[in-house]
Amino acid sequence: MAFVTRQFVRSVSSSSTASASAKKIIVKHVTVIGGGLMGAGIAQVAAATGHTVVLVDQSEDILAKSKKGIEESLRKVSKKKFAENPKAGDEFMQKTLSSISTSMDAASVVHSTDLVVEAIVENLKVKNELFKRLDKFAAEHTIFASNTSSLQITDIANATTRQDQFAGLHFFNPVPLMKLVEVIKTPMTSQKTFESLIDFSKTLGKHPVSCKDTPGFIVNRLLIPYLLDAIKLYERGINTHGNSKSGSGYSLNSDASKEDIDTAMKLGAGYPMGPFELLDYVGLDTTKFIMDGWHEMDAMNPVFQPSPTLNELVAEKKLGKKTGEGFYKYK
Ligand SMILES: NC(=O)c1ccc[n+]([C@@H]2O[C@H](COP(=O)([O-])OP(=O)(O)OC[C@H]3O[C@@H](n4cnc5c(N)ncnc54)[C@H](O)[C@@H]3O)[C@@H](O)[C@H]2O)c1
Repeated sequence: MAFVTRQFVRSVSSSSTASASAKKIIVKHVTVIGGGLMGAGIAQVAAATGHTVVLVDQSEDILAKSKKGIEESLRKVSKKKFAENPKAGDEFMQKTLSSISTSMDAASVVHSTDLVVEAIVENLKVKNELFKRLDKFAAEHTIFASNTSSLQITDIANATTRQDQFAGLHFFNPVPLMKLVEVIKTPMTSQKTFESLIDFSKTLGKHPVSCKDTPGFIVNRLLIPYLLDAIKLYERGINTHGNSKSGSGYSLNSDASKEDIDTAMKLGAGYPMGPFELLDYVGLDTTKFIMDGWHEMDAMNPVFQPSPTLNELVAEKKLGKKTGEGFYKYK
């Protein structure tokens, strides 16, 4: 589709904007930027709940992979949801897939979208560049949201002229299964934007909770220090004389093995996964990135101290399930 200027968007949307200023935005059309793990899941759930979706990424290959992943995930969902009626399941799948189109140029597709959900690489400069550009092309009423796990929403929103229409919409992995969405309100986010996003989250079948723009929001602020503490427990038991820290050597004074820590938290605390299983599932690079960001922000905070074992595993490209090895081997 050809580029549409902000001027043009202003004129075509002026009548709807006047009434929209008084009312919440009812999100019907969603643009999801980034077709990776999170973006593909967000696109899938939005399409499955009656929204039209454009999924944007940088290459045809990535988008083809995203669509294939969405199709596979939808097949599982429809098998479960329509166990008694496979024909209805097929129709649900086809309808959902036909609601998702793809593009490699975000600016050309946001002129008539109600909501942009960004799920690209966790890098402030790249996110700022993206939103600065989209700000010029998106319709006046369009809400911008970031799925960032660790960056300040305010810092991302500052690249735009619509800080009042900017918020965090933090989904959890895997998006089709995880019920929670954290809706992040910055000091500049309008009540109308915030409420529109709460409503949107509910239409997705999710349970929204609200949080201020603080590091890690709710879940990661509590979860990441817990995961890092589990690594510290494990580090205290590692034989540091010659063995790789990511190896399996333990000193006689070992606090506990990672296997026992995982079992303990599952059977003793009722967690569905142990901390090392969860670390491998989330991706060790993601956890390291979040902790590094917090450490940079507040280096003296004892909770925000980096982990030598985590750093070593990431340097060795052992990032967890996605690379076949992290704390555990998956090959
Ligand atoms: N992985 C998680 O468990 C998780 C959970 C919640 C939030 N998040 C956040 O979601 C975001 C995405 O994470 P992910 O795990 O899906 O990453 P990912 O690496 O799986 O996917 C990111 C995608 O964005 C694309 N991309 C990068 N720059 C782009 C650009 N300028 N324009 C369009 N596409 C671009 C990449 O090609 C890639 O396909 C991050 O901000 C992350 O912090 C991740």
